[in-house]
Amino acid sequence: MNTKTGFLLGASTAAHQVEGNNIHSDCWALEQMEDSSYKEPSLDAADHYNRYEEDIRLMAEAGLNAYRFSIEWARIEPEEGIYDENEIRHYESVLKCCRDNGIEPVVTMHHFSSPKWLISEGGWESEKTPEYFARYCRYVAEKLGRWMNYVCTINEANMGLQIAEVARDMMMKMGIKPQVGVKFELPEAFRAKQAKEATVFGLPEGTPVNTFLTPRSEKGDRLIMRAHEMARDAMKEICPDLKIGATFSLFDIQTEEGGEEAAEKVWRDDFSHYLPYLEKDDFIGIQNYTRKIMGKEGGLPAPEGSETTQMGYEFYPEGIGHVLSRMAKETDLPLLVTENGIATDDDTRRVEYIRRALDGVRKCREDGVPVIGYLHWSLLDNFEWQEGFSKTFGLIAVDRSSQKRTPKPSLAYLGSMKKNF
Ligand code: BGC
Repeated sequence: MNTKTGFLLGASTAAHQVEGNNIHSDCWALEQMEDSSYKEPSLDAADHYNRYEEDIRLMAEAGLNAYRFSIEWARIEPEEGIYDENEIRHYESVLKCCRDNGIEPVVTMHHFSSPKWLISEGGWESEKTPEYFARYCRYVAEKLGRWMNYVCTINEANMGLQIAEVARDMMMKMGIKPQVGVKFELPEAFRAKQAKEATVFGLPEGTPVNTFLTPRSEKGDRLIMRAHEMARDAMKEICPDLKIGATFSLFDIQTEEGGEEAAEKVWRDDFSHYLPYLEKDDFIGIQNYTRKIMGKEGGLPAPEGSETTQMGYEFYPEGIGHVLSRMAKETDLPLLVTENGIATDDDTRRVEYIRRALDGVRKCREDGVPVIGYLHWSLLDNFEWQEGFSKTFGLIAVDRSSQKRTPKPSLAYLGSMKKNF
């Protein structure tokens, strides 16, 4: 399928955060357990599984031309090796609906949630996972490839390492010496919780549970990249014209005196060390929300008096432009902004965020940085993982008791920006 879309301007979601009732996934299992680390369970989330037509129509009416969403592996392959044709038909309808509305789908094959069975088999630290992932991706390409042009294999492939870094930082502050490069000796309270999590996956209590969102080892990091490469190659074998990339969570890394070396290391860990695995890719997905300032002692808190979002991040829409131009110094691959956004209940701040972020994107393009699109996080107010429904990232408000949609002014504003690209 060929596209004449030009610059992709749209919004993003992820299956587990919006669809509802993702019952075969690891996240669902963890949300349901006693003493869950999730504030609340996702349940019917934003019921996007049933309401995708309305959601896609609202996007099109606002003037957007692209929609990034994820296909849920746990729905397609609820048990190892058993595929659900009904779910293929469901996603086919979503893809068709995008096409009917003049929206280019950008499909993510894995966005944090995994099938529960995968975690029982060792999850994201197991040598078997790349093959399982590639097998699922090949199947989807066979069934749905003709509807797709853009595929992101793995959302935020670097997330596990970033989580490991945060855990390491936390432990240092608590006076616990972390082991470098391997799994952590977490504090007692965490360990007790983790020990119980194993039983959810039918594993003996205390067995390490390796979801996508547990701190990653260096070996696990390499496995994720292998999964990406194998999935890419498997999908390309079926659909050679698919444009395929992975996405990365990237801060705008800035430096205060004495933080230079640490800043270089963060950028290398977050991005540069992945470049050899991306050589055969068609684009790189970039996801940025704020900046990180590195000082002598590591990451510094947001500057005194700065505006922060519901997530506690510094309001810093300039981050996206800075990261794009930094990436372009290290790679010639096209860059696609697959997420950028702000959790706030004041939509005027979202509009301001979008205005300044897109300004940065436009300037990058003028400087020759090959940015092929901007997909805002998120289309809908949704389930923010462990934080539950309290954080509102959406361009469209969702009333959780009635599931009624109300577009916010930022949706129309984003659509109106099409004229600048
Ligand atoms: C993730 C999203 C998440 C967003 C906001 C990204 O890291 O891909 O799933 O909702 O950040 O926190």
